[in-house]
Amino acid sequence: MATTVRPLLSLLTFLLSLSSLFVPSRSSIDSLVYGGCAQVKYVPNSPYESNLNSLLTSLVNSATYSAYNNYTIMGSGPQDVVYGLYQCRGDVAMPDCAMCVARSVSQLGLLCSQKCGGAVQLEGCFVKYDNATFLGVEDKTVVLKKCGPSIGYETEAMGRRDAVMAGLAGAGGPYRVGGTGDVQGVVQCVGDLNVSECQDCVSEAIGRLKSDCGTAVYGDIFLAKCYARYSTSGAPIYSKSHKDSSHDEATKTFAIILGLLAGVALIIIFLTFIIRKVFGK
Ligand SMILES: *[C@@H]1O[C@H](CO)[C@@H](O)[C@H](O)[C@H]1NC(C)=O
Ligand SMILES: *[C@@H]1O[C@H](CO)[C@@H](O)[C@H](O)[C@H]1NC(C)=O
Ligand SMILES: *[C@@H]1O[C@H](CO)[C@@H](O)[C@H](O)[C@H]1NC(C)=O
Repeated sequence: MATTVRPLLSLLTFLLSLSSLFVPSRSSIDSLVYGGCAQVKYVPNSPYESNLNSLLTSLVNSATYSAYNNYTIMGSGPQDVVYGLYQCRGDVAMPDCAMCVARSVSQLGLLCSQKCGGAVQLEGCFVKYDNATFLGVEDKTVVLKKCGPSIGYETEAMGRRDAVMAGLAGAGGPYRVGGTGDVQGVVQCVGDLNVSECQDCVSEAIGRLKSDCGTAVYGDIFLAKCYARYSTSGAPIYSKSHKDSSHDEATKTFAIILGLLAGVALIIIFLTFIIRKVFGK
């Protein structure tokens, strides 16, 4: 079988490795911003563990049709209750939202294995679970503060930054984007905050961006239930442009075609193998 099958096998390997080259194109949504875990561990194979697993499954399923949801999984006793939620960034479309939440859940499994609580923020979504309720509770604890290098005091750029962030502070809704020239800003609340809580959280995050990041080229302030970010002078833009998504579509189509070709190659190998078995030689 060496003569026919070997070139086919190398074709298959080539196609598979080629298609895997295109998978990291989603990294803009999937890349990790931060992750954190509770210190306390749960008992392996406990009711808590199985409740946690069904919670995480529910979150991933829900993300196929909603940008935000929360779940409370009740156990036989109060020690088995687990609370959780996810929030996709406002511009992330449904199939991408579900992929992002699924990716967060697998990150949680790696980072917070057997921990009672955990939270992961990727570029495109946020997932958190705990055995103490945090649903509907406003929390302005600073989870991550990241400021870029200072550009010195550039009155114009900083004036534009302040104007963009003031615009976002004054706008409504849980997801807000804005920009002028090179300055881009974005804010996002977790969906369990009501309008006034979201506003309060966003004001706090924007205030900290200005006070803590000063004249930095970019700034990220992630509070427990909302975040505010900006970038100036060509630093990364947080919302995906339309150009990006059409590129993603082309990539997806190409990956599907490669997958089909790989499938055809597999079938040919299988048939060759069967034919040789049946007819001997
Ligand atoms: C969470 O689980 C830990 C460990 O089992 C326990 O010590 C703690 O009291 C629990 N918290 C709540 C709110 O049930
Ligand atoms: C949690 O989800 C339920 C059902 O979808 C909803 O009625 C409730 O308002 C949500 N709670 C919070 C805090 O978001
Ligand atoms: C939002 O929730 C807080 C705390 O639960 C409450 O005091 C406030 O009245 C609510 N505001 C609105 C606009 O619903």
